[in-house]
Amino acid sequence: MSSADVQKPFLALAIRGITAGYGGPPIVTNLDMDVAKGKVVAVVGPNGAGKSTLLKAILGIARVESGRVELNGTDVTGLPLEKLARLGIGYVPQVDDVFDGLRVRENLDMGGYLFNKHQRAERMERALTVFPQLRPRLNRYVETLSGGERKMTAIARVLMLDPSVLVLDEPTAGLSPELSKAVLETQVRALGDLGKAVLLVEQKAVAALGISDWAYMLVRGEVVMSADAKEVLAKPDMREIFLGATAPNEVTADRAP
Ligand SMILES: Nc1ncnc2c1ncn2[C@@H]1O[C@H](COP(=O)(O)OP(=O)(O)OP(=O)(O)O)[C@@H](O)[C@H]1O
Ligand SMILES: [Mg+2]
Repeated sequence: MSSADVQKPFLALAIRGITAGYGGPPIVTNLDMDVAKGKVVAVVGPNGAGKSTLLKAILGIARVESGRVELNGTDVTGLPLEKLARLGIGYVPQVDDVFDGLRVRENLDMGGYLFNKHQRAERMERALTVFPQLRPRLNRYVETLSGGERKMTAIARVLMLDPSVLVLDEPTAGLSPELSKAVLETQVRALGDLGKAVLLVEQKAVAALGISDWAYMLVRGEVVMSADAKEVLAKPDMREIFLGATAPNEVTADRAP
């Protein structure tokens, strides 16, 4: 069964034959991906495979040479970040995802800058339902938060725009294995369960596949495999090939020495 068969009914994000890079030789070539409403779709692959470049191509940051990005059926290829935010794509980059010198409340408020005060208050309430741990931290400066709380603030900030699609670049970067597992299992999965379409790039492939509905393997800029995430995890040879030899419960697989 192809990913399109499984996900077709409520396709939120569709990548069609995307070739993109930074002006030189293309970094990613002829990529096809589907992310349906309510699904978490993982993109895993070795360092330098082009995972972040793929996300930057979707977000109008890297240069798209050919192909299309469709958001809820509309061609949004190459549109600037702000326009995409208005149209419903929330992007949480790996770094620089929050303002350290501002309070949590101020970060969330800035995330909802497109809306009036009343709407922002409403959306903040909704974001706090997803991340209740942030409520007692609203007046804290982000620089005083733990890594996990900081990441929650980053995702909550993007939720202020009520996006239909969330694009997350390594949300567990810099977090301990325990926190990484918690972020993926509770927070990222919860976003899918809320009805968001989530495109998740992760280095911690085993943990990411464990909470994902579908997986794409990216190697040297090409999709080499597209399959049900649980099937990938279940295949011992696939774990060997793509994730590195790992113990069954190991969280970080592909950065093992
Ligand atoms: N701004 C840029 N200009 C030119 N080349 C770049 C740029 N950013 C990334 N690259 C190159 O594109 C290739 C893919 O990088 P990318 O960051 O997309 O990989 P990745 O899969 O996200 O890797 P990682 O797992 O290490 O984050 C690399 O060879 C990288 O050097
Ligand atoms: Mg990357």
